[in-house]
Amino acid sequence: MGRGASRPSRSTRAAPPPTACPPTRPGCARSSRTRCATRSRRTPRPSPDRPRRPPAFPRRSSVDGWSAPKGVAPPCILGDVERTRVGLVGVGTIARTHLAVLAERSDVDLLFTVDPVAAAPGPRPHYPDLPTALASHRPDLVVIATPADSHADLAALVLADTDARVLVEKPLVLDPASLDRLRGRDSSRLFTAHHFAFSPEVRWAASLSFGPVTAVTSAFCDPYVLKGEQAFTSYVSPWADSGINQLTVLARLVEPVAVTSLAQEGLHAWATVAYRSGGTSGEARLRVDWRTGASSKSTALSCGEVEVWLDHTAMTGFAFRGGDLLASFGTDGRTPRKIAHYRPLYDSLLSATPDPVLGFDVAAALTGLHASARTPS
Ligand SMILES: NC(=O)c1ccc[n+]([C@@H]2O[C@H](COP(=O)([O-])OP(=O)(O)OC[C@H]3O[C@@H](n4cnc5c(N)ncnc54)[C@H](O)[C@@H]3O)[C@@H](O)[C@H]2O)c1
Repeated sequence: MGRGASRPSRSTRAAPPPTACPPTRPGCARSSRTRCATRSRRTPRPSPDRPRRPPAFPRRSSVDGWSAPKGVAPPCILGDVERTRVGLVGVGTIARTHLAVLAERSDVDLLFTVDPVAAAPGPRPHYPDLPTALASHRPDLVVIATPADSHADLAALVLADTDARVLVEKPLVLDPASLDRLRGRDSSRLFTAHHFAFSPEVRWAASLSFGPVTAVTSAFCDPYVLKGEQAFTSYVSPWADSGINQLTVLARLVEPVAVTSLAQEGLHAWATVAYRSGGTSGEARLRVDWRTGASSKSTALSCGEVEVWLDHTAMTGFAFRGGDLLASFGTDGRTPRKIAHYRPLYDSLLSATPDPVLGFDVAAALTGLHASARTPS
């Protein structure tokens, strides 16, 4: 059933994997998450965040006075773990999840935060705008967690002024013109937090093999009515904010090809999406409702006679045919939902081969589908 976690495409691949570390002497403590000091990377520039390093291959190793005999690779410098220096732009609701997941990682340093309104979330330098922050720091990764209509300008600024990678909250942008602005830049450094593709029950469903998906019905309900007009500032519209999450789930499970209808009014939306799956085609029905007392998100799939129910709020799922339960899925019950999305998202983003669902090609395809939907007049 699943797709999306397959081959990384050329343009969505991140920076090439680290240059292989030479064979190490016994006892080198390098792990898969520990990048050796011999790794070839962008030329480091002096900055307040990173002191100058000694050359990677000193003639005489600084480790225990060990020197490499001719023909023997020098050792890894133990403890020299390459850490990703991160700047976070936008310190609102979803930033709390980014901060929590980044704080768990031993391979990340949070350098600074930016927000013109919100207070600093911690002891690190905090700036009212991104240009001021970039004047003082050289991050490896900038995370943009601001309202959707600011994403294009902020991402373009990072791509133009730094050699950092950028993780932009979904939706990447709202219109094809903004996409074109970003496409011209180094879009291989641009990633989008399509976090629903990492939700545990979605990944479980993608791993099932009950044959082509013959029908999809999805309902995403959020109590944003309680936010009043602020909902439309932070999230733009039900289709802009929640519709893109539903398209993300579809992108993991089938191949969406066109939004065939969209009716959006006020706090709700109804859309139909044509898709392909395993040589067949179907139509997905997507409902968004922001008039609800609680968050509730679910998707029902049919694979011929097999039905698969996914509860995205509870992160559970089960598959059945007639009266027979065929498979079921649940989590450990201890991981909050957004953490369960963003933990694997960051694992993938910070790996040598990020999942293509984070890359520019998927964001461009989803933006095209999303923006092409027209409400009938
Ligand atoms: N809230 C969620 O559960 C959730 C989940 C996943 C993704 N998202 C996405 O994350 C993005 C932000 O959503 P949110 O809920 O955190 O919104 P929010 O309104 O709670 O927070 C946005 C923050 O960005 C700040 N901001 C606005 N313009 C800025 C700028 N130019 N530079 C720096 N900071 C700026 C605002 O002051 C605010 O503090 C949206 O694209 C949304 O779709 C939200």
